[in-house]
Amino acid sequence: MEIQYSKCVENLRSSEIRNMMSVAVRPDIISFAGGMPGNTLFPIKEVEDLYNQLPLSVKQAAFQYGPTGGYPPLIKSLMDYMQRKGMQVEKNRILITTGALQAIDVVNKILLDPGDAVIVEYPTFIGALASFLAHRAKLIPVSMDADGILPDELEKALDSKPAPKMIYLSPYFHNPAGIIYGKKRKEAILKILAGRNIILLEDDCYGELYFNDSDAELCIPMKTVEPESPQICYVSSFSKIMGPGLRIGWLFGPPEIIGKTEVAKQSMDACTSTYVQVLANEFLSSGKLFDYVKWVRGEYKKRAKVMVEALNAFMPPEVTWVNPKGGFYIWLQLPGGVDATDVLKSSLQDGAVFISGKTFDPEGNRNNCLRMAFSNTPEEIIPKGVEIIAKAINRFM
Ligand SMILES: Cc1ncc(COP(=O)(O)O)c(C=O)c1O
Repeated sequence: MEIQYSKCVENLRSSEIRNMMSVAVRPDIISFAGGMPGNTLFPIKEVEDLYNQLPLSVKQAAFQYGPTGGYPPLIKSLMDYMQRKGMQVEKNRILITTGALQAIDVVNKILLDPGDAVIVEYPTFIGALASFLAHRAKLIPVSMDADGILPDELEKALDSKPAPKMIYLSPYFHNPAGIIYGKKRKEAILKILAGRNIILLEDDCYGELYFNDSDAELCIPMKTVEPESPQICYVSSFSKIMGPGLRIGWLFGPPEIIGKTEVAKQSMDACTSTYVQVLANEFLSSGKLFDYVKWVRGEYKKRAKVMVEALNAFMPPEVTWVNPKGGFYIWLQLPGGVDATDVLKSSLQDGAVFISGKTFDPEGNRNNCLRMAFSNTPEEIIPKGVEIIAKAINRFM
């Protein structure tokens, strides 16, 4: 029998990150591959203590099904959190999702028909790309510089046919580009989008992880502006500020859109784990999340500093990057003819891995770039890994 797969499956592309995972966990390999928090940095004791102190009735609720929209006390805590971030909570609602990726996917599910056009950054988070492709969207990549997507290219992309229905941006400590959008660039983007019939999907999974307080202002979401158009759907997550194993994210957006996504989520997983929502709510509402984030910012800042120093020490001068102000990543630009997958094969043999650039290319081609995550590698190991990768790059120059 010949299995007749759906058109959606034809579009699926296995992610190098997922394939790398099996290699990346080998103890002899120095891995900058996974875009994940530091394994040794999770707030395990804090969360254990919070759970142990809960009354029996809350523990029972934690083991039970919950509303599809989310565990009501967590929705309330997140609404307070959104308000503190400057969001207009009276105009919006929240849907709790199974990770930010599900928030992206559920928005795609209610908005996209096959062939619909979506503007994305080049490079783009692979999980979002996979979701767009699974919904058979036509992707229109727009290049970025150190301040965000290029306004001229954005204007051109907006004029393409069919008219794009959605634009997906990750302005805060971009995965994989590592950059944060400048204030003026965000203003310019909103001005260009003003009056257009388009949804802006704003992904803010890393915005809490700035290294210096002076950069906190850069992390103010575009969603706080709340224009009539574009309508902004804001996505965030506990994955990078508590733990991705929890699988909790949320979507914050106009009530009409949230209502539709809630119905769509019913057939995806009925509800996000109540148990984990209870834990996330305790962590957030007790204020412990903010103490933790304050501390963990410092840890990532140290790791980033060591990686930048090692890059400066070992990389050939033709390799360029933007020093990160937060988040998990550094994106390296290699000289024109150097292919990141060739470099990867070579550096793997010497014991260090990263993710090659084409993984994050909406068209899956451009490969003279690569992503290195400093977030899950202890400081004392980072220089050795960078040195191995630099040697591998040199072999192809
Ligand atoms: C930009 C971006 N958005 C969304 C996600 C997905 O987050 P979650 O683990 O909450 O699904 C990630 C995870 O790497 C990410 O980098």
